Amino acid sequence: MNDLRPERLVGKVVVVTGAARGQGAAEAEALTREGARVIATDVTEAPGCRRLDVTDEEHWAELAAEVRESYGQVHGLVNNAGITWRARLDEVTPDDFARVHAVNVTGPLLGIQHLTPLMPPGSSIVNVGSTAALSGHYPVAYTTSKWALRGLSKTAATELGPRGIRVNTIHPGFIETEMTASAAPAFREANIHETPLGRTGTVDEITPLVVFLLSDESSFITGAEIPVDGGLTAHGGVKSISDALAVTTARTRPSPIGPPARVSPPRAVG
Ligand SMILES: NC(=O)c1ccc[n+]([C@@H]2O[C@H](COP(=O)([O-])OP(=O)(O)OC[C@H]3O[C@@H](n4cnc5c(N)ncnc54)[C@H](O)[C@@H]3O)[C@@H](O)[C@H]2O)c1
Repeated sequence: MNDLRPERLVGKVVVVTGAARGQGAAEAEALTREGARVIATDVTEAPGCRRLDVTDEEHWAELAAEVRESYGQVHGLVNNAGITWRARLDEVTPDDFARVHAVNVTGPLLGIQHLTPLMPPGSSIVNVGSTAALSGHYPVAYTTSKWALRGLSKTAATELGPRGIRVNTIHPGFIETEMTASAAPAFREANIHETPLGRTGTVDEITPLVVFLLSDESSFITGAEIPVDGGLTAHGGVKSISDALAVTTARTRPSPIGPPARVSPPRAVG
């Protein structure tokens, strides 16, 4: 489909955080393919990536100065960098809790504070949340940080709207990256079980939405939250009920070519 359209991000300068690998690397590639001038950043060294620790305000100030010097403006920011910490409620320490929030919430806040002064009307920010932000997911530091990111996104969309800057949030489900590779096999299996599409997702299933949200095609969309999760959050936890009753329903469903099939009651035993 994209082959038939001109590149959709020509003339736009876009900063992507956490772009050394995983979703961020795929987003940087896809945005570049669509014609954007991408500034890929990460705390981890990688070819083509500029070093930026999202928790460090000086790093953001330096980046903003460089962008101003080199391009004058920036039209897009993807707040993708994130870390997880799989400690439960009774295990998490205040230090670990704060560390996760520093990357997942303070990082995007600093990015917005330092780059929006350089953003003209029509600019777009994409915050990468998680289905954890839509549920009571067990890693409490991660879950609370992603819920907080939702709040930041809504506030930013409200405050920046009058300047013509849009802010949206995407909520990936289980996506195959190094982050999920470190999870227990049971976590992966349980996710697949709870996902109506019955599988995990890939980074290439995230990037089209990020491109769309950064392009002018989404010019009237702001403050939105879009899951990319194979339906994980759509059923609100009732998939197992639906699955459990699917067999019974199939046995009692009216036949499309005749009267309802009669189902014999279970035979009494003894
Ligand atoms: N993989 C999933 O299933 C999944 C699901 C929901 C949400 N997410 C979110 O998607 C985003 C990308 O995750 P991923 O799956 O690609 O993970 P990943 O671990 O493969 O990549 C994350 C990147 O962020 C970078 N990073 C970490 N701390 C940083 C910091 N302080 N400053 C700058 N960069 C930093 C890492 O170096 C890494 O390159 C994260 O925000 C994550 O929470 C992932």
